Parts: sequence; structure tokens; C-alpha cells
Amino acid sequence: MKWLRILHIVSVSIWFGATACIGVLTIICFFHVSPDEFLILAPLIPELYQKAVLPVAVLTILQGIIYGSFTKWGFFKHRWVLLKWILTALMIPCVGLGTIGQLFSVINKINIGGFTGGFADGGLILLCISLQISIMLFMIGLSVLKPGKPKHHRLTSPQRINMLL
Ligand code: HEM
Repeated sequence: MKWLRILHIVSVSIWFGATACIGVLTIICFFHVSPDEFLILAPLIPELYQKAVLPVAVLTILQGIIYGSFTKWGFFKHRWVLLKWILTALMIPCVGLGTIGQLFSVINKINIGGFTGGFADGGLILLCISLQISIMLFMIGLSVLKPGKPKHHRLTSPQRINMLL
């Protein structure tokens, strides 16, 4: 259980860190480079999703299945765990359609000469990446606070002695 928890925290940290770096790379692409440089840098964004985010995302989902099947947490027993499943599922269209799909349509736009850069072209992509970061920050808070968990009752003296033994 402790090892699963360590692996889970390491996996989601890599997922979160990679998404934050992709966000910075997206800002560089849309605000700091020429269209020619954009065509070199922008394809790195889907590449990073595929090589860095996808493996840890799959690993995290596997851990979720292990938590659901083999631990006391279950799939729907706790509302915060269920909410994590819903939010994780929400991340998929946010990455696939909102970020990677949208980026390819901007690359096409450059090829037909209509690229302006900045928020005009990158607004939706940056919004989707901010949404991914916000959802993950929310999930980190949710996981640490575990809302709805019954508070520990004050233990009686015999119970306290039992715990020490
Ligand atoms: C497939 C969805 C997921 C499920 C079912 C799931 C389930 C769980 C469970 C049951 C725990 C409690 C472990 C324990 O206290 O022993 C946990 C811990 C944690 N989860 Fe997830 N998780 C999922 C995805 C995520 C994601 C995407 C993030 C971050 C963005 C995340 C962040 C964390 C953190 C930071 C902890 C540690 C909390 C602590 O040690 O107090 N989880 N997760």
C-alpha cells in the first residue's frame, strides 16, 4: 500500500510537471517565435504529450484501477475518489481535442499563410492547458484533504494503550 502511494505520487508529479513544461513551451511558441520557428517547435508539443504524459497517465489510471479493485478505497465508496475518476476522464478530451487537435489546425493555418500568433491563434490551446493544470491542482488538494472522510474520534484510554501495543 505504501509503495503504491509512493508510485502514485511520483506518477502524478511527473504528469503535472510535464503539463506545466508543455504550457511554457506553448507560450514560447505563440508569443516569442517567428512562424518558421513555430513550425519546428510546435510539433514538439504533441510529441511531449505522447512520450512524457501518455505513459504516466496510463500508469496513473492503472493505479486507480488497483486502488479500486484491491484496496479499501474502492471505485465509488468515497465521493472524492469518484470525482477523481470523473476529472481524470475529463482530461482526455481536454488534451486530445482541446490541445493536440487544436494545435494541428493552427499548423494547417500556417501552411495556408493565416498565422497571427498570440492569443488569436493560441488562446484556446492555452486555455485548455490552464484547465489541465487547474484540474490537477484541484485533484492534488482533493487527494490530500480527502473530504467526507469521518474525523478521528477521540480515543478512550484503553484504545490508546491498544494502539501503542
Ligand atoms: C484514476 C484516477 C485516480 C484514482 C482512482 C486515484 C486514487 C487515489 C487514492 C485512493 C489515493 C489515497 C491513497 C492513500 O492515501 O493511501 C490517492 C492519493 C493521491 N492522489 Fe490519486 N487517484 C487518481 C488520480 C490522481 C491524479 C490525476 C492526481 C493528481 C493530479 C492524484 C493525486 C494524488 C495525490 C497527491 C495523492 C496523495 C494523497 C496523500 O498521500 O495524502 N491522483 N489517489
